[in-house]
Amino acid sequence: MRRKLFAANWKMNLDPVAARDLVKAIRAELDPELGALGKEREVMIAPPAILIPAVQQELAGSAIALGAQNMYFEDHGAFTGEISAPMLKAFGVTHVILGHSERRHVFGETDELINKKVKAALRHDLTPILCIGETLAQREAGDTTKTLTNQLLNGLQELDCAQIARVVIAYEPVWAIGTGKNATPDQAQTEHRALRGVLIERADEDTAHNIRILYGGSVTAENVDSLMSKPDIDGALVGGASLRAESFVRIVRALKL
Ligand code: 13P
Repeated sequence: MRRKLFAANWKMNLDPVAARDLVKAIRAELDPELGALGKEREVMIAPPAILIPAVQQELAGSAIALGAQNMYFEDHGAFTGEISAPMLKAFGVTHVILGHSERRHVFGETDELINKKVKAALRHDLTPILCIGETLAQREAGDTTKTLTNQLLNGLQELDCAQIARVVIAYEPVWAIGTGKNATPDQAQTEHRALRGVLIERADEDTAHNIRILYGGSVTAENVDSLMSKPDIDGALVGGASLRAESFVRIVRALKL
């Protein structure tokens, strides 16, 4: 059984007071359940980098993991404005989102750069959440599978099976992010299954079977159950709906109520 991961990506939102309040509200609901739920599901919150210390304090003693939304691949040096894996680790970060579509499309990140970041995360024992996704134009041109396969294989370049097994993949169709228009459960399942097929070829059966593939893109309390009922969807990467405790908690409880 793959352990489901429900990850909150707060993006560039909230301030220290609101962040602490949100974590408190989420903990009040989830902490009592996570002992029992923890075997089958994992929860992670990725705040903006500057709020990581506040969220780390607020998460003390909780089973909820702390994530980052991005990082640079070098450990230190003249890289103005960047943050490294050792810095994140010093603040209790265990997961890092890499190659998010906003990093690719707003900040021009390439597959090559993202691959360097994935390798840096693994080198420092951080769990990379490698995001891939097609644009609407790519989908309409019939290029979805090609686009996803390329992004996946390029992101995993030079990794062996043991390393690939430590990566989490997040399928986030660009047209579904922040639009209120999620991929249907069948659409997502089709892509997730295809990605697992690519992983069988690239790695091996075991690795492909054990790797977690999250879905992201307009996940809500209302649509999460139908998405999570699909066999190859192993959790969610949640943007907008992770900014309210009520909806995020409901998402973590997918298929449980
Ligand atoms: P939304 O849930 O706001 O569509 O964002 C998805 C996302 O980009 C998560 O990383």
